Amino acid sequence: MKTAIITGASSGLGREYFKVLTEIYPDIEEFWLVARRENRLRELAESVPNAKCLILPLDLTKTEAVELYRQKLEEKKPEVEILICNAGFGKLGDAVDIPVVDQTDMVTLNCTALTAVTLLTIPYMKKGSSIIEVASIAAFSPTPRMTVYSSTKAYVLSFARGLRRELKEKGINVLAVCPGPMDTEFFDVADAKGRSKLLQIMPRCSVREVAYRSVVQARKGKGVYTNKSIYKFYRILTKLLPDSVTMRKL
Ligand SMILES: NC(=O)c1ccc[n+]([C@@H]2O[C@H](COP(=O)([O-])OP(=O)(O)OC[C@H]3O[C@@H](n4cnc5c(N)ncnc54)[C@H](OP(=O)(O)O)[C@@H]3O)[C@@H](O)[C@H]2O)c1
Repeated sequence: MKTAIITGASSGLGREYFKVLTEIYPDIEEFWLVARRENRLRELAESVPNAKCLILPLDLTKTEAVELYRQKLEEKKPEVEILICNAGFGKLGDAVDIPVVDQTDMVTLNCTALTAVTLLTIPYMKKGSSIIEVASIAAFSPTPRMTVYSSTKAYVLSFARGLRRELKEKGINVLAVCPGPMDTEFFDVADAKGRSKLLQIMPRCSVREVAYRSVVQARKGKGVYTNKSIYKFYRILTKLLPDSVTMRKL
């Protein structure tokens, strides 16, 4: 069955990815929606009555959840047209001030789970299919006061780019999407509201635009997508200048 899989589908960018896919992937027969909040996933599925959805309420920081995901793949043997690894979170503050468990969970979700979900899914993908790995502009340079978060996103970007080269012969494209700030629940989870002047003034990216354009770019076979000229320019700067110049404390 032609399938699309989205992790972190219960809010923000993941939610929007679902809507975009239902519009521009008419041949998808089933959507797998993954996140912890089952009620949110059910509401989302009901918002598009024609879309057949499989709700997977999983906490991807748990090894058992990743094992359940593996078993579901084995049981259903889907033909995955597009995989979007979007589940992730960040925390604002000096690394030593944030509870260690939050930081290690961040690494587990943003890096370990993303890697596991991707690698487990690839055997179910064919030529012409796409993987989108959600990174961030924080991937371009270390970001003090979001040090662990930016490190996880640097991993995601590097992982996506390396994997893209490996999967080229199979005809599977991997795109890393690196959005700037978007007004989602991310900032509540990050405990960032009103705690960073820089974050407050940074131009916002539209969730809809990021979701739509990154899917289009992935289908075109592109490797990296960043929204908004200012953040595209920032990406170039971080390639040309040393970190000591481009790094900004949030
Ligand atoms: N918003 C921004 O400014 C921004 C900028 C650049 C990149 N990003 C990245 O974009 C992605 C989506 O973030 P967002 O802005 O849409 O934030 P969001 O609204 O907070 O969405 C995060 C999603 O991840 C899911 N999630 C969190 N912990 C999980 C866990 N343990 N297991 C499974 N799912 C989990 C959440 O669902 P449940 O809580 O229901 O589990 C939710 O669906 C993230 O990777 C984030 O790092 C965001």
